[in-house]
Amino acid sequence: MTTRILTGITTTGTPHLGNYAGAIRPAIVASRSADTDSFYFLADYHALIKCDDPLRIQRSRLEIAATWLACGLDPERVTFYRQSDIPEIPELTWLLTCVTAKGLLNRAHAYKASVDKNVAAGEDPDAGVTMGLYSYPVLMAADILMFNAHQVPVGRDQIQHVEMARDIAQRFNHLFGAGKDFFELPEALIEETVATLPGLDGRKMSKSYDNTIPLFGTAKQLKEAIARIVTDSREPGEPKDPDSAHLFTLYQAFATAEQTAEFRHDLQGGLAWGEAKQRLFQLLEAELGEAREHYNALIAKPDDIEDVLLAGATKARKIATPFLGELREAVGLRSLNAQVKTEKTKKKAAKRARFVSFREHDGTFRFRLLAADGSQLLLSRAFADPKTAGQMTQRLQSEAGQLEIKAEELRFTVWLAGEPVAESPDFANADERQHAVDALREALVEMTAE
Ligand code: TRP
Repeated sequence: MTTRILTGITTTGTPHLGNYAGAIRPAIVASRSADTDSFYFLADYHALIKCDDPLRIQRSRLEIAATWLACGLDPERVTFYRQSDIPEIPELTWLLTCVTAKGLLNRAHAYKASVDKNVAAGEDPDAGVTMGLYSYPVLMAADILMFNAHQVPVGRDQIQHVEMARDIAQRFNHLFGAGKDFFELPEALIEETVATLPGLDGRKMSKSYDNTIPLFGTAKQLKEAIARIVTDSREPGEPKDPDSAHLFTLYQAFATAEQTAEFRHDLQGGLAWGEAKQRLFQLLEAELGEAREHYNALIAKPDDIEDVLLAGATKARKIATPFLGELREAVGLRSLNAQVKTEKTKKKAAKRARFVSFREHDGTFRFRLLAADGSQLLLSRAFADPKTAGQMTQRLQSEAGQLEIKAEELRFTVWLAGEPVAESPDFANADERQHAVDALREALVEMTAE
């Protein structure tokens, strides 16, 4: 079975070397494996939660799309799209919101962190918290469940969100599945072997620490950023300790085992920091130089990227549209037209007992009472005209409680106000006759109820 892998990239910033080593590179490698079906998307609805600067959102979407394509993501092989091009996602978000316990979202780390911060500052606990931030996990659950992803590669900070998606999926399956599970239960995929890169100052490389190395700046910018990597003050010629130098960790993330061993050896042998930085620059240039060319060419033609993303959305919606249709059906958002049809057919299927009148050869009128299955319950006596016969069928129903039923041999007769009205056919025995009497009373009650 092919494993469906899905992950989203929030479009608020410009990709840096840490994003590349931690997410982009491993994802592209995984997407090439034969037994996976990969979905990668720009989580631009999520971006709106954190950012109210339209230009930044716009720019980031372009840069991130170009980055993934430049790094070798093949949009023919994978499904690569923008979240906001799939209207089924916000629609599914609402269906899921309606089955998500508020208490579950109260426990989300990101929301709790905001509350804790507010409380510590003596503010209202929910100060500055939007419903977007609060409902963030539901939107993310919709991203994942819309395509029934099995595995969701994420950073550790996102594990809880994937677990919430599982909880929400289970709840929906339980409420509406009726024996069928609409949603697969997704699992977070944490790549233990993937490098968490240190930034310029040695802390984790992150936009929020302002210690990043841009992925596709110019060669000059790359060189300048590397020059700012903090090292200790050992002089050229003095032995260095590779394991306490984050410059070495950065190098290792892009080098072969032999290159790493050589670099370690040279540092221990007194390689100058300036020289070491030059080597790191060359290594990164070798890895990224060509992709940078590609990136610049892509950025220069935003229309082409737009086309790629729209084609990706079309591909994604081939799955999303019919699936959402099923889900709408499951929760009861159905065409009224379909509903009328089913009620009509139901009525036909559940036939009731009924009177059927007819004229005898001698010009008199009689009626029969037929059971739901068409068998005859009663045959009336003869009436002079159809009107009197019709009135009698009415009275049989409205005065059903006052009927007198008399057994006569293997049949019974029905009397109303001291007059015989109708008689049953012959039955095989008294038991069957009694059974028919019960059926008659039931039929008359049902007809009156209608
Ligand atoms: N919340 C994720 C992050 O910040 C991005 C994201 C949005 C995502 N939707 C997703 C990741 C669905 C995986 C699956 O990293």
